Amino acid sequence: MAQQIDWSTLGFGYRKAPYNVRCTFQNGAWGELRVSESEEVTMHMAATVLHYGQAGFEGLKAFRGKDGKIRVFRMDENAKRMQNTCRTILMQPLPDGLFEEAIKKVVKLNEDLVPPYETGCSMYIRPVLFGTGPQVGVNPADQYEFIVFVMPVGPYFKDGFKATPCCIMRGYDRAAPLGTGRVKVGGNYAASLASGVLAHQKGYSAVIYLDARSKKFIDECGPANFFGIKGDRYVTPESESILPSITNMSIQQVAKDLGLKIEIRPMPVEELAYLDEAAMCGTAAVIAPINRIDDLDDNKVYTILPDHKPGPVCTKLYETLRGIQYGDIEDTHNWVTVIE
Ligand SMILES: Cc1ncc(COP(=O)(O)O)c(C=O)c1O
Repeated sequence: MAQQIDWSTLGFGYRKAPYNVRCTFQNGAWGELRVSESEEVTMHMAATVLHYGQAGFEGLKAFRGKDGKIRVFRMDENAKRMQNTCRTILMQPLPDGLFEEAIKKVVKLNEDLVPPYETGCSMYIRPVLFGTGPQVGVNPADQYEFIVFVMPVGPYFKDGFKATPCCIMRGYDRAAPLGTGRVKVGGNYAASLASGVLAHQKGYSAVIYLDARSKKFIDECGPANFFGIKGDRYVTPESESILPSITNMSIQQVAKDLGLKIEIRPMPVEELAYLDEAAMCGTAAVIAPINRIDDLDDNKVYTILPDHKPGPVCTKLYETLRGIQYGDIEDTHNWVTVIE
């Protein structure tokens, strides 16, 4: 199967893999992890996922190194975040260790689809957990399904590490301050679709959302966190409605290791005018530098990189983190799990 894939044109999209793994919660308990070859899910038409949005997911990657070994990046953090998602929207959390067991199993079963090192591609891993039990009143389900499926994906930067523009659109919020922005529930993504599509149509890579309460501070950036570099400082927003990014957490550690000072605090929009570098960060791209931010409703333009070239700090952070993920740089923080 892997032999039929043209790695040079591979993008980020669904592709069938031979196996996925599944686990069902019913009659008050999680069952055994099962291997499935089906892409389908059959469920009750009154399942809570369909009406009341009881659904959460994760996204992480496996990388093949020069040594041929397969490494999964920080899956323990994705496991914790999924538990937090479950608790927040009253879905049944997974038993300890089940998330990690499922990831190892599904990657191993589909190991032929982990792309070769030289391609710059990786395997994307998508765990999803949702309510399948029927309810018509607004109540949590009594039955849940956990599925992990995988697919090979192309490198985010096909033509090399590049900077792109983003925009601020004040007519849209992604999440409410005391809502579900801090967890990875499906509804947050439904809420971001209209503004995201509009931004793409206008030629921007992503929307930078402001805090919904005051519209004065930066929250996050489409499906990614935001950070800026000013001198020797790495600044990233503190907010009650952003998803804690595992990539951001990792970059902060790498930045600290490189001698930068880390500031996690509310970031006023006006601060954009003073940044040396700015970027989005997340599993998909690791770091996607931003060259310009247009505040469309305020008619302001923040030029971050006048020559459009990624800055030196973002470039160093990007290369270091990718180096750790692919096994080229020593994993001193024990972030990777080698799949045996
Ligand atoms: C809203 C949002 N913010 C940030 C991120 C980045 O998180 P991570 O670095 O864990 O991929 C993601 C992607 O998962 C996301 O969907």
